[in-house]
Amino acid sequence: MIKPDGVRRGLTPEILARIARKGYRVVGLKQMTISRQTAENHYGEHKERPFFGELVDFITGGPVVAIALEGNEAIAGWRAMMGATNPANAAPGTIRADFATTTGENVTHGSDSSESAARELGLFFADGELLS
Ligand code: PPS
Repeated sequence: MIKPDGVRRGLTPEILARIARKGYRVVGLKQMTISRQTAENHYGEHKERPFFGELVDFITGGPVVAIALEGNEAIAGWRAMMGATNPANAAPGTIRADFATTTGENVTHGSDSSESAARELGLFFADGELLS
């Protein structure tokens, strides 16, 4: 996902270009504004954390771009392209190192397992919207 800060800053084409250069296939792509209910569901595993309210406010505060990627080891590979959650710890050349300064507004999100990918794709894409 390209988070609201990334969309607002016009980074969508840059991030899609990186995905294309990497060689992933985009099988779903949608700009959308997330409801609070979807956001609370999406970030459900963090609901006891002190920043949960802030996180939900942020992710619902403007349009995001939901992207379904397909490719060899795409989950791990996309997380590597994003870099560490805290941009200060992100490796040079990663999206967060190149474009972000804070853990809260760190431009992109990526599923952390095939289970969470299946769950998150189900939140953002309806049956029949994905190419495969
Ligand atoms: S991780 O990668 O799950 O271990 O990272 P974590 O630190 O647990 O953060 C989970 C998501 O919460 C966001 N986050 C925050 N948002 C707002 N304020 C603060 N302080 C904050 N700290 C963490 C962080 O960007 C992660 O979002 P996603 O979309 O999962 O990357």
